[in-house]
Amino acid sequence: MPYKVFVTRNIQKPGLEVLEKNGCELTIWDSADAIPYDKLIENVQGKGYDAILCMLTDKIDAKVLDAAGPQLQVVSTMSVGYEHIDLDECKKRNIIATNTPNVSTDSVAELTVSLLLLTSRRIKEACYALREGQWHGWHPTWLCGTELCNKNVGIFGFGRIGYNVARRIVPFGIKQLYYHDVVEISFARDVNAHFCPTIEEMLPKIDFLCICCNLTPQTRHRINATTMALMKKTAIIVNTGRGGVINHDDLYDCLVKGVIQAAGLDVTEPEPLPKDHKLVKLPNCCITPHMGSNTWDSRDMMSLTAGNNILAVFNKGHPVSSVAMP
Ligand code: DGY
Repeated sequence: MPYKVFVTRNIQKPGLEVLEKNGCELTIWDSADAIPYDKLIENVQGKGYDAILCMLTDKIDAKVLDAAGPQLQVVSTMSVGYEHIDLDECKKRNIIATNTPNVSTDSVAELTVSLLLLTSRRIKEACYALREGQWHGWHPTWLCGTELCNKNVGIFGFGRIGYNVARRIVPFGIKQLYYHDVVEISFARDVNAHFCPTIEEMLPKIDFLCICCNLTPQTRHRINATTMALMKKTAIIVNTGRGGVINHDDLYDCLVKGVIQAAGLDVTEPEPLPKDHKLVKLPNCCITPHMGSNTWDSRDMMSLTAGNNILAVFNKGHPVSSVAMP
């Protein structure tokens, strides 16, 4: 009997092809948009799927797992983040959860650096000013920004992405790199990054904060009115981790009151962020629509990794990347 796999979206081919080539029977929710939660339950109910290949937009909780049934072996998400999967419920049912780290590291790190430059050089404001006919010639103070050179940068979450952001910004000639994570990380020495055991210790020292961590109960709203008040008034925050790490109401207030200077966000709370959200209108807040891994290179590899993870579980091998169970 072929293994049966439910795929929650029409995704890039490599993962689908590798599953089919290895004899799996695929059922694909034939849309590029997210499957609604009730449709997901309806579609997996009693169909005997051995695997679900899902995205970060699909909530995989007890109801979904119960609907899928006791034969389900693996939930493979085509994302690095896995906060949408209830790991306790997977563990109770002996279901393996896998994700796709490594393959989007470069793409997310590149976008993080892009947002750093966009915000520090006020490029969003500049484009709008031009469109509004405000360019009246060279001006000594108009649209002046900040250089990365000779500044201190802090990285919150020094995993693969944090490290790769660090590697890319060191050549800009920054003064000192700091990082905060739950433990000291050995490879931080490669980039001469200084460990700060608490975020409170790091924030006053830095000119730029790059948030590259996961969303966990510990990181949720860690950047809030109290912690932002510790930062320099000229500080800039860039978030390519998860929106929930920042309290967005507090961020708005801090940007409006000048507690910090600017923010670049690729991840927000909620997602999608409504177009009339108060942060969208701020000239000193540049928001992109969660596009860190939006490169053809990354997405093909994410699809392939998600497919290979499923095959590895079926073959009783080790998934390329399984998520550590609680
Ligand atoms: C991930 O893989 O978790 C990214 O946030 C998706 O772009």
